[in-house]
Order: sequence, then C-alpha cells, then structure tokens
Amino acid sequence: MAMTELAAMNAPEVNTRPAKPHLPDAQVVKEVTHWTDRLFSFRVTRPQSLRFRSGEFVMIGLMDDKGKPLLRAYSIASPSWDEELEFYSIKVPDGPLTSRLQHIKVGDEIILRPKPVGTLVVDALMPGKRIWFLATGTGLAPFASLMRDPEVYEKFDQVIMMHTCREVAELEYGRQLVEGLQNDPLIGEMVAGKLLYYPTTTREASPHMGRVTDNLASGKVFADLGLRQMNPVDDRAMVCGSLAFNVDVKAILEGFGLREGANSDPKEFVVEKAFVGDGI
Ligand code: FAD
Ligand code: A2P
Repeated sequence: MAMTELAAMNAPEVNTRPAKPHLPDAQVVKEVTHWTDRLFSFRVTRPQSLRFRSGEFVMIGLMDDKGKPLLRAYSIASPSWDEELEFYSIKVPDGPLTSRLQHIKVGDEIILRPKPVGTLVVDALMPGKRIWFLATGTGLAPFASLMRDPEVYEKFDQVIMMHTCREVAELEYGRQLVEGLQNDPLIGEMVAGKLLYYPTTTREASPHMGRVTDNLASGKVFADLGLRQMNPVDDRAMVCGSLAFNVDVKAILEGFGLREGANSDPKEFVVEKAFVGDGI
C-alpha cells in the first residue's frame, strides 16, 4: 500500500460536508419516543433564560422548504423545574409541520420561540380542594407538566387526571408518566394518595370505558373514585381537548355550578384547545 493511502487511512476523519446551519432560536433534540403510529414525544434542550409556568405553551417548529420558520403551538409537557423541555405530539400524515417533525432524531435542531403563554395555569384558578385535569388525546400534554409540578400538590388536596382516547395504546404515554411519578423518589411521597388517575377508552375495551363527558354527567367517575360530586366551593378544573370536547365539558362543569375564569379573572375552571381546525 502506498504511503499516501496509509496516511489517509490513519488521518482523523474530516467532515467535508458544510456544518449544519443553525436555526434561529434553535434547540437540540435529546430524546424521541414513538408511542403509536399517530403519537410521539420528544425532549429538547431548554434555553437558559426560558421561564414558564407549568401548563403553558410555546411556538415550536422547523424551517420549511423555502427557508421560512413553520411554527405551531405546543404545550410544554415537562414541568417548570425540568432542565430540558418535553413535548407530546400528534403525527398528522399530511400536516405541514408534523409530517416532518415526526422524523426528528437525537441531535437534530428544532425552532423554539421562548415566549410561553396559556390559560392552563394554577394562578388562573381560585383556591380549592380538588383539581380536575380533563383531556382527550394530546390534550394530556399541559397536564403532563402540571402533574409533575409540586405546586399543584401544595395547593390542592386531590388531583384527578381524566384522560380519554379511542384506544389503549394511546393512553400509554400518560400511564407511564403517572406510574413513574408515583414511584419517583423526590415527588412520589407528595403524589401518593393525592393523584387519582382515571384513563378511559371509547373504542377498545379497557378497565374504564367511556368519554370524560359521559363519566362526569352520569356520576360514574365519582362513584368509581369514591368522591363527592363536583361543586363550586371545593372543585377546580382545567380542560384541554378538541373544540367539541371543550364545549361539551364546559356545559357539564357549568351544570355543576363552576364558572370559567382566566389569568386576569380567576374562577373555578379554565379551558384551552389542544388543536385548532377540527371542522367546528
Ligand atoms: P395542522 O395544519 O396544524 O393541523 C392539521 C389538522 O390536524 C387540524 O386541522 C386538526 O384537525 C388535526 N390536528 C392538529 N393537531 C392535532 C392534535 N394535537 N390532535 C389531534 N388532531 C390534531 N399538538 C400536539 O400534538 N401537541 C401539543 O402539545 C399541542 N399543543 C397545542 C396547544 C395549543 C394552544 C394549540 C392551539 C395547538 C396545539 N397543538 C398541539 C396542535 C399543533 O399546534 C398543530 O396543529 C399540530 O402539531 C399539527 O401541526 P401540522 O402543521 O402537522 O398540521
Ligand atoms: P369517541 O371515540 O366516542 O368519539 P379523537 O381521536 O376523535 O380526537 O377523539 C379522542 C377521544 O375523545 C375519543 O375517545 C373520543 O370519543 C373522545 N371525544 C371526541 N369528541 C368528544 C366530545 N365532544 N366529548 C367527549 N369526548 C369526545
């Protein structure tokens, strides 16, 4: 073998490709987990200056083919104390962002605009005894943040997470999160006995079946968990799902005497859409 060839073999590998362009407000992907063919979660680095309240959302995205940022609203699924940021995402097959976002790998960059906002924050509720988190599908994301926040357990005696999906596999991200919390050496003790998890499915058999709305309206969830019916003195609620879900839950909560509040006007419940454009 000629010396030049040998030298080339021993030389450190030189990357001749141009360095990956850094996106504006870029954060690096640290972990990706695919839960079903429609759902995945991922973790990214957290901008040092980013402060947010558990339950808030930010705009995240990728560059489009024309080099313009393609951004969408995403609830931060990690709690405010976490060093990284976690997101829980749908995969819309022809969705402008998620048809591409679903292919991200560890080491890739995403855009993250560090301006958190949102109504699903504890400050937007009056003090109470029990807090109900009511979600369908990826509407679980803000509650994945709130369920991991010690402030929630300091402010409320009981935290009830109702999550409904069509199929059992779609509950798995939430199920593992709750199980992990209950066994967590730091927050586990705080959560024990306070966090009640009520996952249900509507199109596949599971221990608890039925829509959040039906289980509230019929009183089934109160009977199953051994709780009093909701009332405006003790109960607070946060709602996150499709527009149709939010409208239906709102009517039920109002039937129990709870009123919708906001950051600027705390009352008994708050609502946020898990996505827009479901045809209603
Ligand atoms: P889009 O063009 O945005 O949506 C295409 C269609 O897909 C929509 O018309 C709708 O019918 C459906 N769709 C979009 N998002 C969802 C969803 N999450 N579940 C079921 N159907 C959906 N999405 C998340 O996956 N995780 C989040 O944490 C999250 N937080 C959000 C917070 C807020 C306040 C809002 C308004 C939206 C949030 N979304 C979230 C939806 C998100 O902004 C995008 O719509 C989604 O990522 C799809 O983007 P896309 O460009 O691929 O398709
Ligand atoms: P169902 O199977 O009875 O429609 P989707 O995948 O369509 O977004 O629905 C997610 C979950 O939310 C499903 O279990 C679905 O139940 C439930 N759901 C859809 N719309 C409503 C609503 N208006 N009120 C309560 N639950 C709803």
